[in-house]
Amino acid sequence: MKTNITLLFAIITLSISSCIRDEVDAVVKNYTDEELAILQRSLDLPAEVNEYTLNLPRHLGGFPVFANNHQATLGRVIFYDKSLSANGQISCASCHQPEQAFADGDRFSQGVTTDRTDRNSLGLGSFPSFNGYYGFGGGSRMFWDERAGSVVEQSRQSLLNPVEMGLEHISDLADKVQQKDYYNVLFKKAFPNSAFLSKEDQVLTAIEAFVNSIGCFDTKYDRELMAGQNENANFNGFTSQENMGKNLFKIHCENCHNLGAGFSTVVTVANNGLDMEYDDPGVGGISGKTRDIGVFKVPMLRNVAVTAPYMHDGRFSTLEEVVEHYSTGVQNHHNLHQNLKVGNQVKHLNLNEEQKSALVAFLHTLTDRESLLHERYSDPFK
Ligand code: HEC
Ligand code: HEC
Repeated sequence: MKTNITLLFAIITLSISSCIRDEVDAVVKNYTDEELAILQRSLDLPAEVNEYTLNLPRHLGGFPVFANNHQATLGRVIFYDKSLSANGQISCASCHQPEQAFADGDRFSQGVTTDRTDRNSLGLGSFPSFNGYYGFGGGSRMFWDERAGSVVEQSRQSLLNPVEMGLEHISDLADKVQQKDYYNVLFKKAFPNSAFLSKEDQVLTAIEAFVNSIGCFDTKYDRELMAGQNENANFNGFTSQENMGKNLFKIHCENCHNLGAGFSTVVTVANNGLDMEYDDPGVGGISGKTRDIGVFKVPMLRNVAVTAPYMHDGRFSTLEEVVEHYSTGVQNHHNLHQNLKVGNQVKHLNLNEEQKSALVAFLHTLTDRESLLHERYSDPFK
């Protein structure tokens, strides 16, 4: 009797789940069986394309940042594809690793040659929405010296950079992708009206769709605001140390490092007094102006606890060292930003040990590991 009931139960469950499966198949059929077979031979991609649209919570604007899921999926594959680089060993992800908020752990990154990049890799996961910050309305530009205005421009530079991916022409990359059957499927889905865009432009557009889709706001800090806590008061869910750190951050740091979505960032670049003389001129190297020497991007700080080392040259390996810099180390460079000065003098915060630890503890509340490690951003190669 007992086995009969178990059997009956098994039959019912089986038939229910196959009904559900039929229904799902009917509703979302992103690929034909044949296309899916081609994809899944080489790639770990789901049968139903991942959702890349981000829904920003109210305190970050409260609107969706739309994404084209098929383009972002193609972009994800290209982002992780080492075979596209000059030596077949480097992908975007080599220097932009998800578990490190899409930065890497080196001071300077290793690309296709034995040379290293001139600067520390930037975390693409430092924003509530990458697209929100740079795309529509941010007014900020990419790279430490702001030399690129879009991901298309930036990716073209990274792909052709002899130290990074070392391609001679973007068309080399277009040729390479055309040789792979799974790319044929992915391109067809991403660009159904392909006559309008060259293969090169499709590649760059797809990378852009993926990078723009990255966003992280499921942090301890954001969860307090989502629960309706007042931004300027102590948070119920914070320890007293984290609250002390938050207050210090609000007073001394937030006037440059915006914790909003970044649409209203006023200070996008600044000199923060790392040195009296800079080997790397930063924005000044692009503009040629003396007032831009030693001026660099003000990085957004979500996930900062996982993006060490810090600053454009990765000179600090811990957040404690960063905090010590603002406490006692700021140099009176002729371009030092006003927010780090009192009148003409450097403003050293001279924090005590308790305050320093509190600031570091607060910076740790800005981590959103779960979003970073989500399947939609992960390495799809088997
Ligand atoms: C060899 C390492 C390396 C590779 C490969 C690489 N990058 Fe980067 N990336 C960097 C470094 C270093 C920076 C900062 C450079 C600078 O500011 O001058 C950077 C900066 C960026 C930025 C600017 C972020 C910002 O907030 O300003 C984006 C976007 C980016 N990379 C995306 C990509 C993409 C997409 C690819 C693949 C097409 C790629 N990178 C390949 C090392 C690399
Ligand atoms: C005048 C604006 C300004 C103020 C105020 C300021 N910073 Fe910065 N911060 C910058 C700039 C610019 C950089 C990058 C400088 C560089 O690399 O040359 C930076 C870099 C950082 C970094 C490294 C991020 C990375 O990804 O490498 C951290 C962490 C940081 N600041 C934390 C703080 C904290 C904490 C405070 C308050 C105690 C603070 N900042 C105050 C402008 C500012």
